[in-house]
Amino acid sequence: MDAQVQKFVAVMRIIKDRRPRRYSQIYQCLRATSPQSILEVGVFDGENASQMIRSAASLTEDNDNFAYHGFDLFEDMDATIFEKEFSKYPLSQEEIFNKLAPLDVKISLFRGDTKVTLPSYAKEALGKRNHIKFAFIDGGHSEETILSDWISISSIMNEKSQVIFDDYYLQTPENLKGVGCNRLIDRLSTDPRYAVEILPISDRFQKEMGMLEIALVRVRLAR
Ligand SMILES: C[S@@+](CC[C@H](N)C(=O)[O-])C[C@H]1O[C@@H](n2cnc3c(N)ncnc32)[C@H](O)[C@@H]1O
Repeated sequence: MDAQVQKFVAVMRIIKDRRPRRYSQIYQCLRATSPQSILEVGVFDGENASQMIRSAASLTEDNDNFAYHGFDLFEDMDATIFEKEFSKYPLSQEEIFNKLAPLDVKISLFRGDTKVTLPSYAKEALGKRNHIKFAFIDGGHSEETILSDWISISSIMNEKSQVIFDDYYLQTPENLKGVGCNRLIDRLSTDPRYAVEILPISDRFQKEMGMLEIALVRVRLAR
């Protein structure tokens, strides 16, 4: 593992130990719109999935039809992808299923690289005219993967869809430039088809390599 990746992994460990303050905004967005389904790219330990489902499902009258769709490599994560995606090691698909099943909503987990699984999911959804209600994009951190995830998800957006990206860096140490969704979000901000908002609560981490400040971004179709 090269030095840059080691430093990033150290920061990710700190971030994991503290519940990010910015995540409260995801649950607020869910409570505000009570979507009937949630799609999460990057399930990791299922804690955020559990919180998102509880925030949204508690407000719907039809929990039996509430659906969570979670995408992750699960057991397919390996050392090479871990480095390329500046990632974390996820729980297994079965562990996640067992964790989320007691919430009594429909749980579907999609195992594999989202550059493969999401395009086929989006193609099928488009065929059935199933638009995305709420998506949280927080999987691989390489720009290639984030762009691919966005291309799939944006193809099934409609005027009611909310898409939240994690890992927009308001301040980035020099050696982390080129990681995360910044370049894509900056491009979408000037695209008249989209309404892009950087959500106000961010998390800041002072590290040896410099200050890291992370925000969430919400993207919707422009009206
Ligand atoms: C930052 S974690 C997700 C955290 C989770 N959303 C949360 O809020 O707690 C990133 C996850 O994305 C997964 N991941 C990384 N690259 C991926 C890829 N190319 N395809 C699918 N999953 C990927 C990792 O296995 C990891 O579980």
